[in-house]
Amino acid sequence: MTEPEKAPEKRRLFSGIKLVVAVAVVAALASAGVTALLVNIMERKQEAKNPFYRVVELDDTITDPAVWGKNFPLQYDGYKRTVDQKRTRYGGSEAVARTPTQADPRSVVAQSRLEEDPRLVTMWSGYAFATDFREERGHAHMLEDQVFTQRQQVTQQPGTCIHCHGSVYVPYKKLGDGDLIKGFEKMNQMPFAEARKLVEHPVSCIDCHDPTTMQLRVTRPGFIEGIAALKASQGVPGFKVNQDATRQEMRTYVCGQCHVEYYFKGKEKRLTYPWAKGINIEQIMAYYDEDGHADWTHALTGAKVLKAQHPEFEMYNQGIHAKSGVACADCHMPYQREGAMKISDHHVRSPLLNINRACQTCHKWSEAELLNRAETIQTRTFQTRNIAMDALVDLIHDLESAQKAGAPEESLAKARDLQKRAQFYLDFVEAENSMGFHADQEAVRILSNSINFSRLGQNALRPGGGASTAPDQRPAGAPTPGSAGAPQGSK
Ligand code: HEC
Ligand code: HEC
Ligand code: HEC
Ligand code: HEC
Ligand code: HEC
Repeated sequence: MTEPEKAPEKRRLFSGIKLVVAVAVVAALASAGVTALLVNIMERKQEAKNPFYRVVELDDTITDPAVWGKNFPLQYDGYKRTVDQKRTRYGGSEAVARTPTQADPRSVVAQSRLEEDPRLVTMWSGYAFATDFREERGHAHMLEDQVFTQRQQVTQQPGTCIHCHGSVYVPYKKLGDGDLIKGFEKMNQMPFAEARKLVEHPVSCIDCHDPTTMQLRVTRPGFIEGIAALKASQGVPGFKVNQDATRQEMRTYVCGQCHVEYYFKGKEKRLTYPWAKGINIEQIMAYYDEDGHADWTHALTGAKVLKAQHPEFEMYNQGIHAKSGVACADCHMPYQREGAMKISDHHVRSPLLNINRACQTCHKWSEAELLNRAETIQTRTFQTRNIAMDALVDLIHDLESAQKAGAPEESLAKARDLQKRAQFYLDFVEAENSMGFHADQEAVRILSNSINFSRLGQNALRPGGGASTAPDQRPAGAPTPGSAGAPQGSK
C-alpha cells in the first residue's frame, strides 16, 4: 500500500468534506436568506396592521392623550380643540363668563337652560336638575362640568356618574384587578368624590381605540351590556360588541357609549341602559313600567316621575340617516385632508359649524340650503316642544289645584301617571341634543304623544275622570272616556 494510492483517497475525502461544507454553507445561507425574507414579510405584515409611524410604544395602560398624541399629532390637535365654544341656532354652546369662586373655579361655563326656559324648573320640581342644567359643551370640559355642577351640592351622587365623564378604562381595570366589569361595579358604589380621585382625564384615546391596532373598540360596560340586551331583544343572543359589530357600526357605537338614556339600577347603582325591550320610546317606557324605577317624586304633585337624558343614540336610530347607514362619526368626525393623508376630525362638535365636510360629502345642496334644511327641522321641533311644555305645565298646575280641592285619589293617581308619561316623552326630545334633527318625524310624533298625555291627565281630573281606562290600554288616539264639557281646573 503506497501513499500515493492513499493520496487520491485522501484528496477525494478532502474534496468530499469540502462539498459537504459547501453544501452546508449554501444551505445555511439559503435558510438565513429565507429566514430574513420571512422576518421581512412578517414585519411588513405587522406594518400593514400598524401603518403608523411610532414615536412611542402604546399599551393598554396609557390614559394620557398627550402620549398617544406623539404618534398621532393630527388627531390629537383636533381632540384638543374640543375646548372651543361656539353657538349655532339651536346647538353648539355659548361661552358664559363667570367669576371663579373657591367652590367653583370655572371662569367660563355654558349657558343655563333653566334661565333660558323657566318652565323646566316646574317640570323638574324637586329634582336636582331644577337647580342647575346647562347647555352641553365640548369633550374637554366633561370632567370639570360634572364636578362643579350645583347638582353635586343638592344630592349625593354615586361614582357611577364618572362612567361617561372621564377616561375610566384603566381605573376600572385597576380597581377590578384586571377585570373591567368588576372595577365598574366597584366604582359605581363609591361616593362621587372618592371615585373622582381615581380618574385623571376626560374621554381619551384609549376609551375608543385599541392601542396596538388603533381599531375602534367599546370600553364602557354600560354600552357593552346595553347593546347585548338590545340585540337579544331583536333575536340575537350573546352579542359581543367588540367582536360582532361591523366597522361602520363601531363608528356609531363608540359614541353610543355615553350619548344615551340611562338610570342607576338598584342599591348597587349599576349603570343601566333601558333597552331590554328595544330602543324606541314606547319600548323604553314599557321597560320602566315593568321595572318600576322612578327618578324622583315631583315636589308639586307627588307624581313618581322619570327624566330622560341625552338619548342621541336612541333617537338617531329612528332617523333617516341611521336607516341609510350614516354613522355618528360621518357627521361629527368627518374625514379631512391633511396633506396626503385623510384623517378623521377629532374636533367632535356641531356639524353645522362644519357643513362643508360634514354634509357636502353626501349632499350636493349648497351650504346655505343645508343649513336651512337642518334649521327648518329644528324650528318645527322647537315649536312643537314649546306647545308640549305648556301642556305639561298646565297639567302640573291643575294637579296642584285638584290636590288642594280634595279631588278623589283615583283621579289624582291617574293624572299623576299621565304626568309621568307626558314628562318622559317631552324630556326625550328636550334632552336629546339635536332638536329633532337626528329623527325629525319621530321627534314630533313623540311630542304629539306628550301633548296627548297632558290632555288626558287634565281630563282625568274632571269629575268622574279617574274612572276611565288607562291610556295605554286604549288604542292609540282613541278619545278619552269620561265626562265631557266639565270646566278645566284653574292654573
Ligand atoms: C346626518 C348627520 C348626523 C348624524 C349621523 C348624527 N348627528 Fe348628531 N347632530 C347633527 C346635527 C345637524 C346636529 C344639530 C347641531 C346644531 O344644532 O348645532 C346634531 C347635534 C348633536 C349633538 C348636540 C351638538 C351641539 O352642538 O349641541 C350631539 C351631542 C350629537 N348630535 C350626537 C350624535 C350622536 C351620538 C350620533 C350617533 C348616535 C349622532 N349625533 C349622529 C348631525 C348628525
Ligand atoms: C350614560 C352616560 C352618562 C352618565 C352615567 C352621566 N352623564 Fe352627564 N352627560 C352625559 C352626556 C352624553 C352629556 C352631554 C349631553 C347633555 O348634556 O345632554 C352629559 C352632560 C352632563 C353635564 C353638562 C350639562 C348639564 O347637564 O348641565 C353635567 C353637569 C353632567 N352631565 C353631570 C352628570 C352627573 C352629576 C352624573 C351622575 C348623576 C352624570 N352626569 C352621569 C353622559 C352621562
Ligand atoms: C365617555 C363618554 C362620551 C363619549 C364616548 C362620547 N361623548 Fe360626546 N359628550 C360627552 C359629554 C359628557 C359631553 C358634555 C361635556 C360638557 O358639557 O362638559 C359631550 C359633548 C358632546 C358634544 C357637544 C359638543 C359641543 O361643542 O357642544 C357632541 C357634538 C358630542 N359629544 C358628540 C359625540 C360623538 C359624535 C361621539 C363619538 C365619536 C361622542 N360624543 C363620544 C360624553 C361622551
Ligand atoms: C370618542 C371616541 C374617540 C376618541 C376619544 C378618539 N378617537 Fe380616534 N377615532 C375615532 C373614530 C370614530 C375614528 C374613525 C375610525 C374608523 O373609521 O374606523 C377614529 C380614527 C382615528 C385614527 C385613524 C385615522 C383617522 O384619523 O381616521 C387615529 C390614528 C386616531 N383616531 C387617533 C386618536 C387619538 C390619538 C386620540 C386621542 C388624542 C383619539 N383618536 C381619540 C374615535 C375616537
Ligand atoms: C354619509 C352620507 C351622508 C351625510 C354625511 C349626511 N347625509 Fe343627509 N342624508 C343622507 C341620506 C342617504 C339620506 C336619505 C335620503 C336620500 O337617500 O337621499 C339623507 C337625508 C337627509 C335629509 C332629508 C331628511 C328627511 O327627513 O327626509 C336632510 C335634510 C339631510 N340629509 C341633511 C343632512 C345634513 C344637514 C348633513 C350634515 C350635518 C347630512 N345630511 C349629512 C346621507 C348623508
